[in-house]
Amino acid sequence: MAKKIRLGILGGGGDSLIGVLHRVASQINDNYEIVGAVFNPNFEENIAFAEEIDVPTNRIYKDFDTLVEEELKLPKEERIQVCSVLTPNFLHFPMVKKLLENGFHVICEKPMTTTYEEAKILRAAQEKSGTVFALTHTYTGYPMVRQMREMIRAGAIGKVHKVDASYYQGWINSIIHDKAKRSTVWRLDPKKAGISSCIADIGVHAFNMVEYTTGLRIKSILADFNYLYDDNQMDVDGTVLVRMDKHIKGLIRSSQVATGEENGLSIAVYGEKGGLRWEQENPNYLYVLSDTEPLQVYKPGHAYNSKLSLGGTKLPPGHPEGIFDSMANIYLGVARAIRGEVYNDGEFPTMLDGVRGMDFIERTVESHKNGNVWVDLD
Ligand SMILES: NC(=O)c1ccc[n+]([C@@H]2O[C@H](COP(=O)([O-])OP(=O)(O)OC[C@H]3O[C@@H](n4cnc5c(N)ncnc54)[C@H](O)[C@@H]3O)[C@@H](O)[C@H]2O)c1
Repeated sequence: MAKKIRLGILGGGGDSLIGVLHRVASQINDNYEIVGAVFNPNFEENIAFAEEIDVPTNRIYKDFDTLVEEELKLPKEERIQVCSVLTPNFLHFPMVKKLLENGFHVICEKPMTTTYEEAKILRAAQEKSGTVFALTHTYTGYPMVRQMREMIRAGAIGKVHKVDASYYQGWINSIIHDKAKRSTVWRLDPKKAGISSCIADIGVHAFNMVEYTTGLRIKSILADFNYLYDDNQMDVDGTVLVRMDKHIKGLIRSSQVATGEENGLSIAVYGEKGGLRWEQENPNYLYVLSDTEPLQVYKPGHAYNSKLSLGGTKLPPGHPEGIFDSMANIYLGVARAIRGEVYNDGEFPTMLDGVRGMDFIERTVESHKNGNVWVDLD
């Protein structure tokens, strides 16, 4: 039995949204042990939280710089091997850069940075360090999303001609319509979130899903944002037309003010022979559409699925697996990469996905601000 990988956590404290998903996901396949952390910028809360979840407090540090400094003093076989960066967006770049430069592997939340320039600096840092880097576009871990990717690669729908990805939420309604509340969330603060709220927070997931499932690159975009109020600097709704080439087009729709929507991520890809459609809130169904055959529904765990998809299912068909399992599949792929084992490049999003995502975010803001014009991605 391989030894557990020593995991450090940055952010993701008891007060956070995403921390529990990473902690549970890291344990699901028995590959990781949390050995050190800065869960929270407040040291007392940091220690209290570590005690609450039973992580030894001797390697709970007062801040990120101390974590790196102290861990580097430890022998390599005791030191944290990989750090998960789960802080608000503006901290991703300085943390990831320093981690890569000091030889740590990194699992980072999206959006990877706050600017495209920073993303390119991280790419150079990773190339130099040769360490593993994964970006947690969580939804790519679902078995049926992986199946969609493999079916498109195998030609099941023929040549792709239309993509339609949508990520609709309504949660910011309870904040955006109240002037005082607008300044209370970091996602609406450009200093903490970067240049975009909606596109950077969720539109970028939809962008990644399009590129992940089709294997194609979006070449140009035209964006139309809604800020709802003149004093609000951050988009809360964005519709983006996308072109992959002259004959492959589509759209990415995202909203944080789609009233009543919860976590409505969906993707449809249409080709000359058929279509595929998947929805996050019912993740165990992959719909196969045809002009000539009845609707088919693929489900996880059946032998008719691809190896990549089956690798993300732990129980026999009919035992629903969800978002925790999806993230766990990403952690599983990262564990294989860290151990130098063979893995499929669809097992986790990489630095390239992060760089592409930041290019997409910046170009959509540019398109909107310049009067909704077409802009090329690199
Ligand atoms: N993959 C996904 O689907 C998904 C979903 C939600 C959030 N996210 C991303 O995860 C990140 C965190 O989002 P969230 O919603 O959990 O935020 P949050 O505000 O709920 O939690 C942030 C956490 O970071 C901690 N923190 C802040 N400054 C810190 C510092 N200097 N050092 C250590 N810890 C610090 C806070 O105490 C808190 O525990 C964001 O980048 C967000 O975009 C991704």
